[in-house]
Amino acid sequence: MSFATHIITPYEYVAYATHLKRLSKDDRYCRFRTFTSDETIEAYVKKIQNNPNEIVIAHYGDDCGIDGSLQLSIIENTIQEVRKKIAELSMSVLPESRGKWIADTLIEHAILHARTLQVEQLVTTCNPSNKTMLHIAKRIGMEIDGDFEEKNAELLLQKPGIETISLDIFRQQLWTIDYVNKKTANAVSEIWKTFYTNV
Ligand SMILES: CC(C)(COP(=O)(O)OP(=O)(O)OC[C@H]1O[C@@H](n2cnc3c(N)ncnc32)[C@H](O)[C@@H]1OP(=O)(O)O)[C@@H](O)C(=O)NCCC(=O)NCCS
Repeated sequence: MSFATHIITPYEYVAYATHLKRLSKDDRYCRFRTFTSDETIEAYVKKIQNNPNEIVIAHYGDDCGIDGSLQLSIIENTIQEVRKKIAELSMSVLPESRGKWIADTLIEHAILHARTLQVEQLVTTCNPSNKTMLHIAKRIGMEIDGDFEEKNAELLLQKPGIETISLDIFRQQLWTIDYVNKKTANAVSEIWKTFYTNV
């Protein structure tokens, strides 16, 4: 398991849709806050892929498929008195990859990138029964309120410094090395399998 995450490029939205479709019915409910079919996911991903206010950060598993994702939706608040740049986060990690701090890694990257974009507040919404998400939100210092139907969490972000922006750019490059390593390991493993089945 690596801690390399990156903002996906236009070529990776098919992999993002595949990741979301691999979630169970209940996980899709937690992720989208509504029951979501494969067709709805396809249409949703098509809709967001050319929207600069929808940013997807992904973690790739050893099989070179996306096993964790976090979407930042930038909301420009137009009300004069509370003009504030806000980003809403929604995330998912495949069941077989959970408990390995992939969500933590994605959030850390999301905070870094949101600060680079001068976002002032990070928000998320989840079901009160989503103990894992509430635990993660509390651990990163989000303030939580809400009722028995819905929990809202928010975190004020610090203004970026030059080191924030540099680290954000570095993370994007670091991922390339990790992905090439995983692709190479997969290719070598395939060659070995072919070799041993033929001897
Ligand atoms: C929420 C989700 C993204 C977490 O992914 P993950 O990679 O397993 O999370 P991490 O490994 O980074 O962290 C899990 C943390 O939750 C804790 N946790 C797990 N189950 C828990 C539970 N039932 N109650 C409280 N804490 C729990 C773990 O102990 C760990 O905390 P720790 O590191 O302090 O010990 C994943 O469970 C998921 O995709 N769920 C379905 C979709 C969803 O709920 N999305 C969130 C709404 S937007």
